Amino acid sequence: MKKIIIIGASSGMGMRIATDFARLGWRVGIAARHEDRLKAVKDLYPDRIEYMTIDVAAPDATERFYKLIELIDGMDYLLYSAGCGWNNPELDETFDERTIDVNVKGFTRIINAAYKYYKDTANLHRGHIAAITSVAGVKGIGISATYSATKRYQWAYLQAIDQLAHQQHVNVSVTDIRPGFVDTPLLSGDKNYPLLMSIDYVAPRIERAIVRHRRVAVIDSRWAVITALWRMIPDPLWRRLELNF
Ligand SMILES: NC(=O)c1ccc[n+]([C@@H]2O[C@H](COP(=O)([O-])OP(=O)(O)OC[C@H]3O[C@@H](n4cnc5c(N)ncnc54)[C@H](OP(=O)(O)O)[C@@H]3O)[C@@H](O)[C@H]2O)c1
Repeated sequence: MKKIIIIGASSGMGMRIATDFARLGWRVGIAARHEDRLKAVKDLYPDRIEYMTIDVAAPDATERFYKLIELIDGMDYLLYSAGCGWNNPELDETFDERTIDVNVKGFTRIINAAYKYYKDTANLHRGHIAAITSVAGVKGIGISATYSATKRYQWAYLQAIDQLAHQQHVNVSVTDIRPGFVDTPLLSGDKNYPLLMSIDYVAPRIERAIVRHRRVAVIDSRWAVITALWRMIPDPLWRRLELNF
């Protein structure tokens, strides 16, 4: 029986992917801050899902993460789906700090803890580290400067961990999942985002990318084309682009 830990599984994509894997018979360990929501997810598959409240921004996050691994008796896959972000053209410091706490500090803490777990158990089985980043990492986006910068950080960090695993002969593979806009609580119910995708549409694509150990998966192909075009835009032109979503 496969075992997956999903951080950020109390809502949105993480929650949906947790229930999908539990339905398939996997053992699933879920974490986030809101205990009532985690419990509601566990109640759907009480024999297959265990939960642990974890605030990735808190210093005890690593210890609690390891306890969750113990609860499901191992970890074949990690999915980091915790995240936050806001449009912040006023550069409000409170939003910036919360975004950095979860998308950078918490992300680094949990990815490192997973890597060390696999390093210590390297010869037992192959480990896999996956994270939902975003297409927003492709370039700095003026109205969401911190969000786009933290997503770029996540891209680079996952790439670095993949290289480190190769250098240190640690049996770990890494998947960077980069969706475009998805209709989740993160977008506060606003349906006006361009090419907005439903969770029903993205969840199976993310799950396939994880089980196939894809290195990078842009969800979906339309967003792959858009981000490829964005990359080609020279900086002086990018600067003038009015991105207002
Ligand atoms: N929705 C989109 O358009 C979109 C597009 C591209 C990428 N993404 C990325 O996809 C990931 C999942 O987001 P989502 O869209 O599914 O949004 P979501 O429904 O808001 O889910 C975010 C999850 O992160 C958890 N979380 C937030 N702060 C946390 C903390 N300090 N410690 C532990 N868990 C925390 C939340 O749970 P608690 O509040 O219970 O802690 C929740 O379970 C994020 O990284 C997001 O940036 C989203």
